[in-house]
Amino acid sequence: MARVSGATRSDEWYTPPVYIEAARAVLGTIDLDPASCDAANATVKAARFYTKAQDGLVQPWQGRVWLNPPYGKLAQAFVAKLVVEHECGRVPAAIALLNSNSTDPPWFQPLWDYLLCFTRGRIRFISGDGHAKFRPQNGSVFVYLGPRPQNFIKEFDRFGEVVRRAGEPRLPAVAAPERHRRPTPSFAATDNGGPLLDYETAAAYLAVSERHVRELWAKRRLAGIKVGRSVRFLEADLDAFIVSNRVSAVR
Ligand SMILES: C[S@@+](CC[C@H](N)C(=O)[O-])C[C@H]1O[C@@H](n2cnc3c(N)ncnc32)[C@H](O)[C@@H]1O
Repeated sequence: MARVSGATRSDEWYTPPVYIEAARAVLGTIDLDPASCDAANATVKAARFYTKAQDGLVQPWQGRVWLNPPYGKLAQAFVAKLVVEHECGRVPAAIALLNSNSTDPPWFQPLWDYLLCFTRGRIRFISGDGHAKFRPQNGSVFVYLGPRPQNFIKEFDRFGEVVRRAGEPRLPAVAAPERHRRPTPSFAATDNGGPLLDYETAAAYLAVSERHVRELWAKRRLAGIKVGRSVRFLEADLDAFIVSNRVSAVR
């Protein structure tokens, strides 16, 4: 979220309705707000939202997303997950609201491949009780990830300058479709993470050898879950691995 000064440094500053309504007009509907609470969702009206207690970072994301993440290090984790979920097709469209003073660190770099709207002036965020308004030290940036750039331009142009990187995207196009074919589950599905895949299926999914998957797991470069004496992999972790490799390849 936007940077706040010491005394008001808190995650409990919510997005004013005018921006939420513009986001809804672009997305059609907001299926998920992965960083929220009851008070904020009175405005966002997402069909589903995750709270701090539920931790949106470990929950499944699906559908059209509105994201104004919590302040600090968590913001980058939410952005990383957003890019992964979008690139892997589980989040077909999303709008994120971030501090426009945070465009230089590595975690922001993938976002330059999308459409950005830098606010003219500051957003006045709303407090939890709906009364106080907070004007951050910096402007904000909206990021659009989705198939309808014209809709985003139409709705957000009034808030600031809509820009896109000149030249080709730095990230290669979305991973080969065969990578995303649904592998046959080789073990029972988990509560929220989908099927658990064995080495062979994970190797097919990543388009690498089984031996390579074993090495990645041994070096802890790939997340896995111990099931008895074996190891299983979640599709979401394999997707995250694919995307983070693509991101680091362009740094
Ligand atoms: C900046 S506010 C934005 C709220 C709402 N998304 C909006 O746009 O108005 C961030 C919200 O994320 C919540 N939050 C903090 N850590 C979280 C986490 N790990 N998972 C989900 N929500 C979290 C905070 O309690 C806060 O309500």
